[in-house]
Amino acid sequence: MPKRVAIFISGSGSNMVKLIKAMQSGLIDAIPVIVISNSKTATGIQKALELQVTPIVISNEPFNGDRTSFETAIHNILIQHKVDIICLAGFMRILTHSFIKKWNNKILNIHPSLLPKYKGLKTHQRALNAGDSHGGCSVHIVTSELDDGPILGQKAVAILPNDTSKDLSARVLIEEHHLYQKVLAKFVKDCD
Ligand code: GAR
Repeated sequence: MPKRVAIFISGSGSNMVKLIKAMQSGLIDAIPVIVISNSKTATGIQKALELQVTPIVISNEPFNGDRTSFETAIHNILIQHKVDIICLAGFMRILTHSFIKKWNNKILNIHPSLLPKYKGLKTHQRALNAGDSHGGCSVHIVTSELDDGPILGQKAVAILPNDTSKDLSARVLIEEHHLYQKVLAKFVKDCD
């Protein structure tokens, strides 16, 4: 049985689009069942609709910092939709230990750095400031430590002279799209 995948987004959802298309075209043996956005203004919501995947907005705002209730709302939706695997794709909320435990080894994340370097935000600027020769991206299993957990794949991207963080981020994003598909395709196979 193909695995049922939920994709979590907060913004433009370009990784989400690539994952959905790869599943819908059979490149990944899995079904994109829902997209969950914590932001009602995420532009990825419209893109999910256009790809005929149901977007569900669960805004964190009304929960006023009550992360447990916010995550319970998400968890219930995942159960309703019989989700097997969660892909975080630009989802900018930190999940609690309790949620991650419920979905142990079932949550993947893409992060725009060569982990373990530059966990957190502003990864490209930090790589530039450090004078690194390469930036890049990583897909890893989500554990309770931020941007930690077993790395399933990485792609390095050369930093060019005069690169701004915007330049680097744009080139890394292209590699993210390839990497995430490749990793998810293998992950679903290995789940069988
Ligand atoms: C991507 O670069 C992703 O790696 C990053 O947000 C961007 C989302 O773009 N994620 C993180 O920084 C998570 N820590 P997208 O919405 O176009 O896929």
